[in-house]
Amino acid sequence: MAFDKLTPDEAASIIENGATLGLSGFTAPGTPKGITEGVAAKAKKEHDAGREYKVNIFTGASTNRHVDTILSEYNAINMRAPYQNLPGSRARINSHDIHYNDRHLSEMSQETRYGFYGDIDFAIIEAADITDDGKILLGCGVGNIPTYAKMAKKIFVEINHKLPKSLMGMHDIALPLDPPYRREIPIYHANDRIGTPYLQVDPAKIVGIIDTDEYDGVKSFTAVDETSTKIGNNVVSFLLQEYRAGRLPKEFLPLQSGVGNVANAVLYGLAEAKELPNFMMYTEVIQDAVLELMKRGKCTFASTCSMTFSDKTEEELFSNLDFFHDKILMRPAEISNNPEVIRRIGVIAMNTALEADIFGGVNSSHVLGTKMMNGIGGSGDFTRNAYLSIFSCPSVTKGGVISNIVPMVTHTDSSEHSVDVIVTDQGIADLRGLDPVQRAERIIENCAHPDYKPLLRDYLKMGINGVGGQTPHTLRHAFAFHNAFNETGDMRNANFS
Ligand code: COA
Repeated sequence: MAFDKLTPDEAASIIENGATLGLSGFTAPGTPKGITEGVAAKAKKEHDAGREYKVNIFTGASTNRHVDTILSEYNAINMRAPYQNLPGSRARINSHDIHYNDRHLSEMSQETRYGFYGDIDFAIIEAADITDDGKILLGCGVGNIPTYAKMAKKIFVEINHKLPKSLMGMHDIALPLDPPYRREIPIYHANDRIGTPYLQVDPAKIVGIIDTDEYDGVKSFTAVDETSTKIGNNVVSFLLQEYRAGRLPKEFLPLQSGVGNVANAVLYGLAEAKELPNFMMYTEVIQDAVLELMKRGKCTFASTCSMTFSDKTEEELFSNLDFFHDKILMRPAEISNNPEVIRRIGVIAMNTALEADIFGGVNSSHVLGTKMMNGIGGSGDFTRNAYLSIFSCPSVTKGGVISNIVPMVTHTDSSEHSVDVIVTDQGIADLRGLDPVQRAERIIENCAHPDYKPLLRDYLKMGINGVGGQTPHTLRHAFAFHNAFNETGDMRNANFS
């Protein structure tokens, strides 16, 4: 092989304070596992010696313990974009040690190319294989690496020996041109290929190769609980109702499914829906449930940015790659989440909310309006452009002291202009064609937990009889639920006096 072998410490020795690193991967899969450990060790040494040392970390989405966890532990991250989901980085973000720029995932690549975030000093790429002329076979997640690799001054490659070379053919790498030369993205069906099965980089930029040898480290999901099962069943009945009414074509439409436990439960619900035809997915992540759906023949194809499988499922995938090879295609985030394609092929978007308000606004990212949970992720990319946009969440959380249906969301990630349907364990609120008061009545009656219905009805009545208007909020009491939680630990103590 034409490239030098390096250790993580040797690689880190040339990464200076203030450098910007663009990492491959999307969620843990495809994310590097070696060099950032060296960067963290270097940060510790520099900080112990009283010197500044922080790097900027650009990724596809969330990462793994070798990136966000360890770099946060050593306070080694300055700027971070576009998404994270680990407790260590979350804490540093909320204390402003990390300057976090929470972006729509489809936009990060192009905005980086437009020069909005400055130079990329190093790209770090996890690979299954590399040729001497710089053709890289990527791992189980792509993210924004085609852009980072193109822009980077220097490139490190981490060869992960757990990755089978038979992954070749499961990636579709394409970079759109930038305005004013951008053309259409010629994807007309979820399974259309438009690019190459490998990432071509300039071999002259490669500084060296690091060896790693581990699975992606995604934790298994907790067993699907009763609430998630009810939500899953409600989403499925809604889709069935739409299908029977002819509002979904008989061939069905590609599905997008968000991240987390609820999203996984929704997919398991679909596996049981015999009346629904087999379907494809056009999505940004596929979780364990999708592999199960593929084994049962229910999901025939998935276009994704990452195979976010638990280690057990990843092992199963690698030992049965022949079966799954032509059923999964991994694309860069700006293609997997591309608004043009999502709109054209009619994706049904199913995402999870932290809280939704009675008028249809959705908060996916900020706990009680101030603390960053994870980020907007791809939910906005899909929600805004989908054929149908569904948000689901449990009606209450933390044993009932928090209602996830509130008078007004404390932070808006997706507005009522984009949200078509809200689903909780209590039921389904189809918001299409309704005015704000009609929406509020439907959300309260169909989705709120019985403990909170009287309070929400009072809030709506107060607005209608008070200031009124198209969306009758009572601003003085719009956050009464959140204030009650902050002051008493229970939203049920909200009062409007
Ligand atoms: N207020 C305060 N805390 C809340 C809350 C609320 N309204 N709703 C949920 N929580 C807490 C839960 O209690 C839980 O806390 P814990 O970790 O202490 O148990 C945590 O938030 C996660 O909730 P959970 O019900 O397990 O949700 P999840 O795993 O399904 O994830 C999101 C939900 C919204 C956090 C997650 O889907 C997300 O980050 N979405 C944004 C990005 C996105 O949608 N990407 C997909 C696009 S393809």
